[in-house]
Amino acid sequence: MPSLSCKMRIIMEQTQIKRIVLGLTGGIAAYKAAELSRLLMKQDVEVQVAMTEAACHFITPATMQALTGRPVLVNQWDAAENGMAHIDTSRAADAIVIAPATADFIAKLAHGLADDLLSTLCLARDCPLLLAPAMNRQMWANAATQRNIAQLISDGVQVLGPASGMQACGEEGMGRMLEAGELASEITAFLNSAPLSTTLTPTLSRLRERELDCLKILITAGPTYEAIDAVRGITNRSSGKMGYAVAQAALELGADVTLVSGPTSLDRPSGAKVVDVTSAAEMFEAVKQRAEDTNIFIGVAAVADYRVAQPSEQKIKKSESADKLTLELIPNPDILAYVANLPKPPFCVGFAAESENLRGFAAAKRKAKKIPLLAANLAQQAIGSDDNDLILFDDAGEHVLPHADKLTLARALLQHIIRLRKK
Ligand code: PMT
Repeated sequence: MPSLSCKMRIIMEQTQIKRIVLGLTGGIAAYKAAELSRLLMKQDVEVQVAMTEAACHFITPATMQALTGRPVLVNQWDAAENGMAHIDTSRAADAIVIAPATADFIAKLAHGLADDLLSTLCLARDCPLLLAPAMNRQMWANAATQRNIAQLISDGVQVLGPASGMQACGEEGMGRMLEAGELASEITAFLNSAPLSTTLTPTLSRLRERELDCLKILITAGPTYEAIDAVRGITNRSSGKMGYAVAQAALELGADVTLVSGPTSLDRPSGAKVVDVTSAAEMFEAVKQRAEDTNIFIGVAAVADYRVAQPSEQKIKKSESADKLTLELIPNPDILAYVANLPKPPFCVGFAAESENLRGFAAAKRKAKKIPLLAANLAQQAIGSDDNDLILFDDAGEHVLPHADKLTLARALLQHIIRLRKK
């Protein structure tokens, strides 16, 4: 059952004109902000631009002013009528979106610094903050940046992207800002699901920041191992990385996470309750015990579809006379289907790893399992790797998530789940 404060949040969602502050910081991707503001305005979002001094070296305030029809805020010493631009501007906004967000600006936000108008606006805000990071791949991978991002996420900031690809510096990797079209859809989806700041008390506003605070999430991860005899078994190459990343992303959003994990060599996500299992039957039991008391179930595990009918307790000896050994396999229970068919099922999310016809097989699997959301990936690319491509299938169709590391994808997946549950 959602708590009273969760219910109040749901009731308070309503349709009104949306206003954002679009903050530009000093990176080459600032040019994409021009198209972004145009796309947002086309969708009836009012855009107030605020730029750091560095951003003005990449795109001029005059361009942004001409596109949005509003004077651009740059200097904190250009007093607004009552001299409180840093307070007034964020009070009137439903969200602040920083695009591009440089590594330097992200570091500033993570530490609560406020030494220019834009950072002051962010610190004084009473509305959600969304960031679209844009930087060189090594700056993105740097431990300091990752620490700062993790801090901001745990503070409730929404991080959109980055994507992987060719960078302005000529290098290739993670750190490109999402394209204007992708950002515009993320932002409008967010605005249409987020409570409006004008109607929020500070307490409710904080609730928005850790969107899974009230919720129990049960996740399966890793492979299963089906014994043939005392020393041999049937398993697969799932490393558990994707499922553990989903657990980590859910923890960042404040969820109460139970991770039912097949055999992996990964560190446990700190804060999650981890239930270690070996076989599909054990995984089924662990899920069965918890499924009725969970809000969201996410089946990321690569569960063996079959197990050996009669595993031998002793090591099977090689027979000199027999030229073949036949194993009889029987089907394992379908854990996801069981949960989805409970009288009061949690919100169920499945995964599908396919080696061909990804879209066709995945869409069919979602229908067969009768689940609202399924994340599809190519087996040869997804299993064991650090990054991945995911396509999400729901009632509205498919949503392609840009190539990214598994944690970034897991965060995007959870944002999608949050949006669907709100609908
Ligand atoms: O662990 P990694 O190395 O990071 O790799 C991640 C992954 C590729 C394993 C993961 O992203 C993924 O795709 N997991 C699902 C693998 C799969 O193909 O599952 P499936 O098609 O067999 O099953 C579809 C869904 O039903 C899955 O959610 C699965 O967890 C669930 N299922 C399947 C069989 C079964 N007996 N019980 C289940 O619950």
